[in-house]
Amino acid sequence: MSSIDLDVVILAAGQGTRMRSSTPKVLHTLAGRSLLQHVIDTAETLTARNVAVVVGHQADTVQGSIDADVRWVQQPEQLGTGHAVQLAMSQLPGDGVVVVLYGDVPLISVQVLTNAIESAKEGSVGLVVADFADPAELGRIVRNEAGEIQRIVEFKDADQQERSITEINSGILAVPGAHLQEWLGRLKPNNKQGEYYLTDIIAMAVADGVAVEGVMAHTPEEVAGINDRVQLAALERYYQQREAERLMRAGVTIADPTRLDIRGSVEAGEDCFLDVNVVLQGKVVLGKGVRIGPGSVVTDAQIGDFTEVHAHTLIEDASIAAHVSVGPFARVRPGSVFAEGVRIGNFVETKKAQLGAGSKANHLAYLGDTVIGEACNVGAGSVTCNYDGVNKHSTNIGDNVFVGTNSTLVAPLDIHDGAFVAAGSTVTSTVDKDDLAVGRGKQRNIKGWVRPDKRKE
Ligand code: UD1
Ligand code: CA
Repeated sequence: MSSIDLDVVILAAGQGTRMRSSTPKVLHTLAGRSLLQHVIDTAETLTARNVAVVVGHQADTVQGSIDADVRWVQQPEQLGTGHAVQLAMSQLPGDGVVVVLYGDVPLISVQVLTNAIESAKEGSVGLVVADFADPAELGRIVRNEAGEIQRIVEFKDADQQERSITEINSGILAVPGAHLQEWLGRLKPNNKQGEYYLTDIIAMAVADGVAVEGVMAHTPEEVAGINDRVQLAALERYYQQREAERLMRAGVTIADPTRLDIRGSVEAGEDCFLDVNVVLQGKVVLGKGVRIGPGSVVTDAQIGDFTEVHAHTLIEDASIAAHVSVGPFARVRPGSVFAEGVRIGNFVETKKAQLGAGSKANHLAYLGDTVIGEACNVGAGSVTCNYDGVNKHSTNIGDNVFVGTNSTLVAPLDIHDGAFVAAGSTVTSTVDKDDLAVGRGKQRNIKGWVRPDKRKE
C-alpha cells in the first residue's frame, strides 16, 4: 500500500441487548477469539498508524480483555455511530485516510477493506455494500438513475419504496480524514432515533461533489453483524466450514467437516487425517500424515510426521516428534516433549515430561516433572511422586531403564542408564547404572490358613 497514513476507528460502545448476556456483545467469541479481537486483528494487518476503539457499555471489561496496542476512546452515552466516530476523530490526526469498522462485524476481509481504502486514497468515499435477499432492518443504499450512490436511508426512517431496496450499507467505510472531520461537524440528530448517524455523511459527500464508490462485499458473511446468539452460531459454522475447506485444499482429510472445530491457527502437512469431533485450539502445527482420533482436543502443540493421536486424547502446550503414538484417553499437559517413536497409551498423564526416543508408558501412569531417556519402559500404574505437598521435585531417568508395573518413584530421584525397578517398588533413593531396585515388602505365604466363616446371628 502507498504512503498515505491510515487510521482505523472501531465502533464497540453499544450494549448488545439481544445477546441477553452479562458479557458485552463484542467479547462473545467466534472460533475462540472475541468478536472485537477479530476486528482488531484484521485492522492490524492494514498497518494503520492508529487503531482507535470506541467503548461505552462495560468499557472496563472490554478494555481489560483485549491484548493489543490500541487507543481507547470513551463514549459514555451512545448518541449514534456519527457521534462515536466524532469522539474518535477528536483524538486522531485526521490528515490521512480513516477506516471505520464495527466491533460486531468480525469477518470483514482485508481484500474488501483494501479496495475501500484505495477509493479513499483517490479522494473518494469507499463504502462497503452488499446485496441481501432479506435486508431486514439494515440501512438502504439509495442510488440515482445513473446508478450513483446518493445517500443512505436507515430502515426506521425509510418509506415503503426505500425499504424495498435490497442493497444495504454494511456500515464499513474508508474516507479521506479531512472531509470526514468536516462532515462529522455538520451532523444533526434529525431522524426517528434522534441519533447522530454516520451514514448522513454520504449525502454530504455527494453534495460536496466527492464521489462515493460502493465496494461490493465478496460474501454476505463478511459484512454480517452479530446481534444475537443465533447469528453468532451461524457465523461460527460458516467460519468453521471455511477453515475446514482451507485444510482440505491443503491435503488434509476431514472425516466430517461439520464436526471439526478450529479455534486458532492450524498448519497441516499433506495427508493428515482429522476424525470427527476434533477440536484444535491456539497454534497447532501438524506435520504430514498426522492422524488425530475422534473426540481429541489439541491446544498449542506441534506434532511431527506420521504421529498418531488416538481417540479422546487431550494435548496442551506440547511438542511431539514424528512417529509417536498417543492415547486413546491420554492427557498430555503443558511442557510435555516427546521424541521420535515415543508411545503414550491409555490413561497416561504427562506434565513437564520429556521422553527420549522410543520410550514408552503404555498404560495408566503419571509422569510429571521428569526427564526420561531413550528406550525406557514405564510399566502400568507407575507414578512419579513429584509433589511433597509444598514443592515440586524432579525425577531423572537415564536410557534403557525398565520401570516395573505399579512403581512409585519418589522425587527428587535419579535412576541411571540400564537400571531396572522391580514391579511394585517404592523408590526413594538413587538407582545406579544397571542396578536392580526392589523396594517392596517381601511376600510371605501362611500354610494351612483357614478362611473366616459367615457369622451366625
Ligand atoms: C448501522 C448503520 C446502518 C447499517 C448497519 C450495519 C448507522 C446510523 N446505521 O445501523 O446503516 O446498515 O449499521 O450493521 O450508522 N455504536 C457505537 N456508538 C453508538 C452507536 C453505535 O459505538 O453511539 C456501535 C455499536 O456498538 C455497533 C455499531 O456501532 O458496533 C453499529 O451500531 P448499531 O446501533 O448496531 O447500528 P445499526 O442501527 O445497526
Ligand atoms: Ca447493528
